[in-house]
Amino acid sequence: MPYTNPTNLAVVACPGGESFADEVIVHLRQMYKHRYNLKRDVISKHYEMERAEYIKSVNFHNDIISSDICGKGAIDKYRAPHFKVDTEFTYFMNGEFKTEIKDCIRGKDVYIFQDVENHQELSLNGGKNKIALSVNDHVMSMLVTIDAVRQAGAGSITLVLPVYPYSRQHKKKGREGLTASLLGHVYEQLSVNRIITLDIHSREIENAFSKAHIENLHASYQIIRELAKLVDLTGKTEDIVIVSPDTGAVDRNKFYSSGLNKPLAMLYKERDYSVVTQNAKSTNIKSVKLLGDVKGKVAFLADDMLGTGGTMLKAMEFLKEQGATKVICAISLPFFTGNAIEQFDEAYKKGLFYRVIGTNSVFHKKLLDCEWYINTDVSGLFANVITRVHHRQSLSDLLDNRTIIDKLVKRD
Ligand code: R5P
Repeated sequence: MPYTNPTNLAVVACPGGESFADEVIVHLRQMYKHRYNLKRDVISKHYEMERAEYIKSVNFHNDIISSDICGKGAIDKYRAPHFKVDTEFTYFMNGEFKTEIKDCIRGKDVYIFQDVENHQELSLNGGKNKIALSVNDHVMSMLVTIDAVRQAGAGSITLVLPVYPYSRQHKKKGREGLTASLLGHVYEQLSVNRIITLDIHSREIENAFSKAHIENLHASYQIIRELAKLVDLTGKTEDIVIVSPDTGAVDRNKFYSSGLNKPLAMLYKERDYSVVTQNAKSTNIKSVKLLGDVKGKVAFLADDMLGTGGTMLKAMEFLKEQGATKVICAISLPFFTGNAIEQFDEAYKKGLFYRVIGTNSVFHKKLLDCEWYINTDVSGLFANVITRVHHRQSLSDLLDNRTIIDKLVKRD
């Protein structure tokens, strides 16, 4: 599959995933153009060709292999790939969805984007309806879309699903369902070949798949890049301690602790699971204990997701009480449900934390305006992974980003 003709790579964006898909497409276009120019310069020199001759011959070659009688676009210019498939979504007033694929995608490698935590008002039915959709609406619209893509004869289907829905239901204690794996089985039934996700809540979910591949990306490099602008990572002017906000987040924070070469502390919380957390104030957390020392230090905490914000606010308040100078937290998947933003605004005014670093994997307009919020962009990472998957190249250095983190920390 040549870099000069990526027409087999097609993006279908579900209504919730449109914003993230557009950001990824910007990177894809830049990457392909960069690669094209690089090849043009090297190959035209190697073959002693004029650049113009090279461009013409690439277009000629692509036109020859294309099933169209003649490819679209000028013969003497770079033809920028489009990627995005024209798709029509209908939202019926009883809550049902319909997806219609308007372009031919037969045999193509289709990447379906969905952001199940996008609860902004979406413009549906050609702008006639403005509706905020729930996680379940987004899951259903994605299933309908996968089916439409499958029925349209796609060669392969990849879900680009930064938030893996129902990931917190990955294990059961009593008579509960295993909803994370249930959804995995549904995707496989619908012929999904691969899922690209971000910081999945539990690696156990991967065990649910017998055919599809899961690529679980990490936002740690992008997070550390922002952290380095906020604190002195060399430790010369301030001491930093990495704090796991609960036992479930230990591995994630251990990664930051070893990557940044800083000590690790941990919070231990007693929860009352008979209570459902309503919002950041009314949570099921009954008591908090600290293992380690944060006094006089900058405390950095990382969690995979932030829902009501109760877990993080409680942790940050407690760390301040224990004498932390600054509290900074990082969230890969910032849902900020209900009135979480207001609760964070309040806590920020009280000086309970310094900054929250979050990724753009969840579209949340209001969050971007908060003084305390730092947005870090993971769309380039997703674009990189998509092109590597598409061109059958290794993902290892993108999945295990310790080397680039090491370089970043040493540079700082
Ligand atoms: C829990 O295991 C997760 O990693 C998060 O800590 C939790 O889901 C956050 O939820 P909330 O913000 O509602 O406390």
